Amino acid sequence: MYNLAFWGFGEMAGYHLSHLLQYDKIKPVGAYDINRVRQRYAECRGLKAYKSKEELLSDPQIDIILVATSNEIHKELSIEALKAGKHVLCEKPATMNSADLEEIIKSAENEKKIFTVNQNRRVNKDFLLMKKYVENGTIGDVYAIESRVEGSKGIPDGWRSIKSMGGGMMLDWGVHLIDQIMYMRQEKVTNVFCKMYSINYKDVDDNFRLTMTFESGLTAHIEVSTNNFITHPRWYVLGNEGTLQIDDWSCDGKIIRCLNREDKWDKEITQSKAGPTKTMSPRSPESVETIILNEANNGFDFRELCTVYDQMVDAIDQKAPLIITPQQCLRVIKVMEAAFESAEKNEAIHTCI
Ligand SMILES: NC(=O)c1ccc[n+]([C@@H]2O[C@H](COP(=O)([O-])OP(=O)(O)OC[C@H]3O[C@@H](n4cnc5c(N)ncnc54)[C@H](O)[C@@H]3O)[C@@H](O)[C@H]2O)c1
Repeated sequence: MYNLAFWGFGEMAGYHLSHLLQYDKIKPVGAYDINRVRQRYAECRGLKAYKSKEELLSDPQIDIILVATSNEIHKELSIEALKAGKHVLCEKPATMNSADLEEIIKSAENEKKIFTVNQNRRVNKDFLLMKKYVENGTIGDVYAIESRVEGSKGIPDGWRSIKSMGGGMMLDWGVHLIDQIMYMRQEKVTNVFCKMYSINYKDVDDNFRLTMTFESGLTAHIEVSTNNFITHPRWYVLGNEGTLQIDDWSCDGKIIRCLNREDKWDKEITQSKAGPTKTMSPRSPESVETIILNEANNGFDFRELCTVYDQMVDAIDQKAPLIITPQQCLRVIKVMEAAFESAEKNEAIHTCI
């Protein structure tokens, strides 16, 4: 059993606490937050509220510090915690740029402590469902993956709409969606093109559209929107033998697989809703197979965050290598850096990430 303290006890820390209270290998013990209201709230929830960061860092009973502040101070706090001899679980994004994460990596190596990042969306059901069908070849060779997360309510108040504090949708959601794809496809990213928008929040990207190209030619198109009143499917994936669509977080969707490539064309151009075209005329229903996806997803599962905790505990115990490594997070951050550069220059950035 490892003892954990929160550095920053805001909304996400509270969410972790609810999970950790049901988890048997890490005991949440204390919290330090600069906001007195949150300090009091931590006490109400049964935690020791540290009066200063020095008191937190010098508490010998704490093994793990969970950094859950706004993004711009993740680097500074993580390094201080590592230097105080603590293992660190940092909220995503680990840092706002790759140089900062490289400093953390050096510090973790010097102190011989585990540093990992809460890239919890690697275990989301919608992602795992898509990954399963891509990897088992159901739709053949996959050449394009589209991943979208869309809302219409803008960005919540606070640091998320302030650039210097690490706001904006690339750092908030982009980091999850890029991480999912890079975790699934361990090949180099050779090209990044991104368009960012500031529709309602002038200081940050409140919407973005990113296209990453991998060495094999596979493209991943990622969109995060806060101003979409009509949404696209969560996942839309094209393979040479079929198409997969997952509609939303509920994980409903379908796969349509090609059974007969020969059954293609009518002899003459026929009249269809598309007008006079053979190319876009409908396929005969017998030439395809439809697989309905209806795996029930009743929301975010308690066990999903526990997977991240389990992986960290196994790495501390040296039972297994760390799964969410800082080196993987570094690649994701480098892609985000290329995306910001692309958006600023309005051109594609060649990369070798
Ligand atoms: N993994 C996920 O699914 C997920 C979901 C939401 C948020 N997050 C991440 O969690 C982190 C926190 O987000 P949040 O929504 O909880 O924000 P929040 O604003 O609710 O909480 C941040 C807290 O940090 C405190 N704080 C700021 N500076 C501090 C300092 N120097 N020392 C101590 N406390 C300090 C603030 O007072 C606040 O209580 C962010 O990095 C965010 O990206 C992750």
